[in-house]
Amino acid sequence: MDSQEHRKTAARMANRARESGTDWFEEFYQWTGGDEVKVPWADLGAHPLLVEWLNGRQLGSTAIVGCGLGDDAEAASHYADSVWAFDISETAIKWAQRRFPDSSVIYETSDLFRLPAERRCAFSTVIEIYTLQALPPERRQAALESLASLVSPAGELVIISRWREPETELGPVPWPLLISELDELDRLGLTRTEQTSQPAGQAIRLVWRKP
Ligand SMILES: C[S@@+](CC[C@H](N)C(=O)[O-])C[C@H]1O[C@@H](n2cnc3c(N)ncnc32)[C@H](O)[C@@H]1O
Repeated sequence: MDSQEHRKTAARMANRARESGTDWFEEFYQWTGGDEVKVPWADLGAHPLLVEWLNGRQLGSTAIVGCGLGDDAEAASHYADSVWAFDISETAIKWAQRRFPDSSVIYETSDLFRLPAERRCAFSTVIEIYTLQALPPERRQAALESLASLVSPAGELVIISRWREPETELGPVPWPLLISELDELDRLGLTRTEQTSQPAGQAIRLVWRKP
């Protein structure tokens, strides 16, 4: 089975889950049987746009949302006082823990839509990479509200995601974001401080600050 087949399996599960309003990630991670090659988003290294952003920073308490196999959390841990990395999939969390047995990162199973109360406003940096684009558009407003709720006053939210022009039709997952969808964060009172300028279809990095 080649990488196209892995993507098709992910797309099939994502479509089924979208129709039934359920999640598909745990099922997908289990389906891979622990083979990293079968995880289309597992680059086994931190995202280059994150690496660039982290360079030279000193971060406080940091949250990594939808951390998958843990590479971005590990990269952030070299710059942060502490890192809490969570994912809805228990299989992914155990996988990340196996890959990084000596890590200082706290890996935990948690759902962005059911965050523990003590995590609210608890992080001076919140980093989300490729999770929003894996959620159907109808769940994004709630996802953005949850992301914003993690950020402490004066803290920052970093989003790295593929984006699309409004006239581009949505194909199979991943579903690149419309930049206008992210206006929700401005409505929630955060201020956009950075937006890189990669062409549509590619990943961009956007940063917001909470007042
Ligand atoms: C496309 S993957 C990206 C993983 C990782 N951020 C990366 O870039 O390699 C999306 C991740 O978000 C996780 N996820 C999806 N819905 C979630 C939710 N409601 N709460 C927490 N994590 C979620 C999935 O299990 C999956 O690991």
